[in-house]
Amino acid sequence: MHLPRAIASLRRRLGFSSLHGRPGTPSNQYSSGADPSVRGAPESTPSEVFRKPTVNDGDAKRNIKWNQQRWGQMSGWREYDQYGYRWGKGHQQSVGDLAKLADDMFRPLTRGRHDLKILEIAPGGGRFTAEIIRYARELVLVDLNEAAIDVCRERFRYYPTPITYVTNDGASLGVVQDSDFDVLVCYDSMVHMHPDIVQSYVSDLPTLLISGGFAWLDHSGRGQREAGHRTAMTRELMSDFAEEAGLIVESQPYRNDWDCISVLRKP
Ligand SMILES: C[S@@+](CC[C@H](N)C(=O)[O-])C[C@H]1O[C@@H](n2cnc3c(N)ncnc32)[C@H](O)[C@@H]1O
Repeated sequence: MHLPRAIASLRRRLGFSSLHGRPGTPSNQYSSGADPSVRGAPESTPSEVFRKPTVNDGDAKRNIKWNQQRWGQMSGWREYDQYGYRWGKGHQQSVGDLAKLADDMFRPLTRGRHDLKILEIAPGGGRFTAEIIRYARELVLVDLNEAAIDVCRERFRYYPTPITYVTNDGASLGVVQDSDFDVLVCYDSMVHMHPDIVQSYVSDLPTLLISGGFAWLDHSGRGQREAGHRTAMTRELMSDFAEEAGLIVESQPYRNDWDCISVLRKP
């Protein structure tokens, strides 16, 4: 028998489609992209193009729509925003920047504990989640957009910490079953939310937090601003919302020239 033809025939019988193929599998099956059989793996192709929001961000309802359009596309997380480390391929924050912020402004409030039950609103691609998970015995992540939740599912799937992933309506935390959280966190997300939405979330806090628990909420402190899409939230408005909800305003430091972190404690 002619040797090359004999080898080709043998390969065919064993199921090899090419010299580097694997028996019984099409040769392109392992070539690229997320494995779609893995639950939660983001599914998008590099050819997907990010589309900027088209809705005008006015009242609370349109603000939710804007936030759905802006952060609801997997191509946005993957390419346009690079998982939040480079928003719109522009403003850049390193992993170290996030670690420093968390070490300076969040960690002291944990009082050395690493067994906290934490709820995070609007985790996006999980930049701040990667910080707070170090203090958590359990995490619940709630975001308006499934695309963000899918990124987090993939990112944290190797952690042993129990994590519950939830999408919501963008205004209430009624979808969260538990009411025994030590801490509630929201970083670099409330800055994009209409004050009515922030007020709605703050009004849910007393039923979610244990007595003595606290919320750590990063929001616009000086009102609306085009740059960075800051909404009309202020430090004073946050104090009013907290007071209405029966929470104590423990501190309100600024993290930069515009954004304020309000620490609200449940008595
Ligand atoms: C700028 S990203 C920040 C994400 C993350 N915290 C970070 O620092 O990388 C804003 C996130 O807030 C979420 N979001 C916006 N409006 C929301 C709302 N009303 N309720 C819940 N999540 C919201 C978006 O889906 C997105 O994941």
